[in-house]
Amino acid sequence: MLPTGDTPLPMYEELRRRAAAGRLRTERATLFELDEYCGLTADDPRSYRRYLRDQLAGIRFASRHGLAGDARDLDAECARYQRLLDEAPIDLVLLGLGRDGHVAFDEPGSLLDEGVRVVGLQPTTRQDAAPDFGGVDRVPTEALTVGLRTIRSAGELLVLVTGVAKAPALHAMLDGPVGPQCPASLLRDHPRLTLLCDREAASRLTASELPEP
Ligand code: GLP
Repeated sequence: MLPTGDTPLPMYEELRRRAAAGRLRTERATLFELDEYCGLTADDPRSYRRYLRDQLAGIRFASRHGLAGDARDLDAECARYQRLLDEAPIDLVLLGLGRDGHVAFDEPGSLLDEGVRVVGLQPTTRQDAAPDFGGVDRVPTEALTVGLRTIRSAGELLVLVTGVAKAPALHAMLDGPVGPQCPASLLRDHPRLTLLCDREAASRLTASELPEP
């Protein structure tokens, strides 16, 4: 299960390079997308389906699944996706981290037992997306997201966090109280969680929580 955003762009570039060199064995893997804005078509350059199609160009999967944010019946679309997820135990989820502590589009207030659903986007999340849409007022107010229930049930989680703007969120994820005010904190006791971050993102963590160099 793969994320969007700026953070994983270098990773996708590397994956494309390896695929082109015949060094990426994804032919038997099934890809699920994590989330999608409501109202955008799969071809819309701002949609996450388009993002992943472009970022994964030249990489072959056994099958790929995305959320149709432009579906006429969004609840039915969520139910369809949840059924697919329930039939396919997820081996690995890659995640980014939002400034408000969200993962995928599981915004603050999200609970561990929630599934695929329509969510309202928080002001910081819409603000961060504003450059892609030419202004915050044009950013969709709602999105579809895979829920924490599915993410937490995955065999392995890999979270990518870079930049000083994410330092407070990373601090809240790892050092703050565990709770829905920081959805990422609800994942921190996952038995196989790997966090990859740079020094800037880690700058609010206390030294005792940083791994030995
Ligand atoms: C959006 C996406 C998330 C992503 C986050 C961080 O909110 N729904 O899946 O992790 O942005 O994006 P970036 O890496 O650009 O900071």
